Amino acid sequence: MEREALEAGARQILLTNLRRGVADWNGKEFSFVVPSLRGYPFQWFWDSCFHAIALTHLDLDQAKAELTTLMSAALPDGFIPHIIFWEMEKQPEFLARNIVGMVSPNYSSTIQPPILAYAVERVYEATGDQNFKDNSLPILMAYYRWLRVNRDPDEDGLISVIQPEEAGTDCSPKYDEVLGIEDLTNQGFISALKKVYDVYEPIRGDDKKILETNVFHIEDVLVNSIYSFSLRALARMLGDSSEATEFNQEADKTRDSLLSKCWDEKTAAFYDLSGTDESMLKTVTISSLMPLILPDLPSQIVDMVVEKWILSEEEFWLPYPLPSVPASSSKFIPGNPGGFIWRGPTWINTNWFLSHALRRHGYKEVAEIIVKKSYEAIELSGYREYYNPYTAEGLGARDFGWSTLILDF
Ligand code: GLC
Repeated sequence: MEREALEAGARQILLTNLRRGVADWNGKEFSFVVPSLRGYPFQWFWDSCFHAIALTHLDLDQAKAELTTLMSAALPDGFIPHIIFWEMEKQPEFLARNIVGMVSPNYSSTIQPPILAYAVERVYEATGDQNFKDNSLPILMAYYRWLRVNRDPDEDGLISVIQPEEAGTDCSPKYDEVLGIEDLTNQGFISALKKVYDVYEPIRGDDKKILETNVFHIEDVLVNSIYSFSLRALARMLGDSSEATEFNQEADKTRDSLLSKCWDEKTAAFYDLSGTDESMLKTVTISSLMPLILPDLPSQIVDMVVEKWILSEEEFWLPYPLPSVPASSSKFIPGNPGGFIWRGPTWINTNWFLSHALRRHGYKEVAEIIVKKSYEAIELSGYREYYNPYTAEGLGARDFGWSTLILDF
């Protein structure tokens, strides 16, 4: 597809999905892109970061507005929610189909993969706007400190998620065991999730207590790869300072624990750790490849992951790579049975992360194939939420915001 046509399509989505106004409930102005007008009509944390990065190619002011709106939802203690219901009138319909952990009616009390500092860095680099950076830094420092203080009880540099949606890969099969899913459908997932919500109900908002229940306490590989990656961006923006040292040290610690605790040499993959006893959840998914986004990962580990998993046609090297679950897995579903997501189809955001990662590690040709196939999928099926890895059939939401990340491949 010609770059012009691609940009025109992306611009169309980012404009159509743009929401601007003043929230009734806090009087604040908002200006951001919803992931999809029908399915996801609010602001989502990591989607917004991806939208802002895509917008650096189209509209710099809107890129800043997207992140400024997200950061305006930060609470005094530093926490930033994973969903902000700016337009409350749309909430009842959404909550009839989904469950969300909340203490306030206006935003969720859960997190999403913490890619924000990297997104701010990208928008700052694109705009050179010093004010934007200066206003963002205190919010970012408070946010990443909040994660460290509230989500890393064993202080090993790996932060924990308390429910699957926090990792952004909602129904991933890697959580089946912990959730005790019996019925392998989206309904089965929601029923299992409701049991977790029931335990949390009386202590919602107190994440330390929630982690102590040990009901869903996962040191997630995707989340921690993004955490370490983003802490580096924060440290870079802080320049030569004691704060930069603080965040760089945390990034080192996270990387070191990913290597010492989550890496399994025998199967050449990284696995999540579950519970206070940190048992490995040995299900390979796209998350198992995510530490490759760290530029300082030892090259022999990168080579092993690429050979064993990425370039294997039995695993991730399908006609439209990279699927969210390897093809050899008994849990692999390439299509979309009733929105049971993250169980096989290919997503543009993980391809964006991993194509850049592979390029950085010297796998230029592999990266270029992923890029080319991602372009092709969009050309064939438009900007969809995810794609069948064999046919590139478009699945899930239409006119999906973060697939415009293709502009940044
Ligand atoms: C789904 C995805 C999540 C995303 C949200 C909005 O819940 O799993 O990662 O943020 O949709 O697009």
